[in-house]
Amino acid sequence: MPNIIKAQNEEQFNDIGAGIVASLLQSNPKALLGLATGSSPVGVYGRLVELYKEGSVSFAQAQSYNLDEYVGLPSDHPESYRRFMNEKLFNLVDILPENTHVPMGSSPDPEKAAAEYTELLQQAGRLDLQILGVGLNGHIGFNEPASELHGFTHVVTLDESTRQANARFFSSIDEVPTQAITMGIASILHAKQILLLVRGAEKAEVISRALNGPVTTHCPASLLQTHPNVIVLVDQEAGRLL
Ligand code: GLP
Repeated sequence: MPNIIKAQNEEQFNDIGAGIVASLLQSNPKALLGLATGSSPVGVYGRLVELYKEGSVSFAQAQSYNLDEYVGLPSDHPESYRRFMNEKLFNLVDILPENTHVPMGSSPDPEKAAAEYTELLQQAGRLDLQILGVGLNGHIGFNEPASELHGFTHVVTLDESTRQANARFFSSIDEVPTQAITMGIASILHAKQILLLVRGAEKAEVISRALNGPVTTHCPASLLQTHPNVIVLVDQEAGRLL
């Protein structure tokens, strides 16, 4: 079963999350990092930037692979995940730009971009650590609840509930893309270790269902129960039912 850590406050949440990434990089400077966007990892990335500035961690030899990206947003769009990663982490630490990978959601041929990302991940080998968040509907990456899930990187049509949940970042719901490219479940579960970051009262029900409910494709995060090395880092609000 996953190892659940309940942080007392935001500072502790960020310290613990960043500490896990930093100790991996200290023991394995060439680590392959699977990274996520969303609000939950922001403070963890912020703490990692501080650790880098203090000289306690370096990304100089690390490689990163992001989980997902919207289809159809230019990579410099304020809400593109490429831009999010550049602004929250990549531009602020010593990772080499060519060692950062985000699915090419702006490609004119997203299916091809997804297939290329699958190939890239296969060439890279097993990720040492995959950071994840969970959607209100139980999605991980953008793997939405369904009767079947894809194993590898693919183009997905976003659930209406996901578009609504993410509409707060756009000027209106019409601006929210309808599709995304996401790493598949097999690739996610192939990582050696998974760090699931969950914050906020509205996530309490879904994280309890994912960890204590049945393992089902209708709650993609529940598949994490089958992985031997998962750390679930929650704040007090999200961890209320655990
Ligand atoms: C988006 C991302 C997911 C992320 C989820 C949760 O939908 N595609 O990868 O895990 O948001 O985000 P938050 O951390 O804001 O709760």
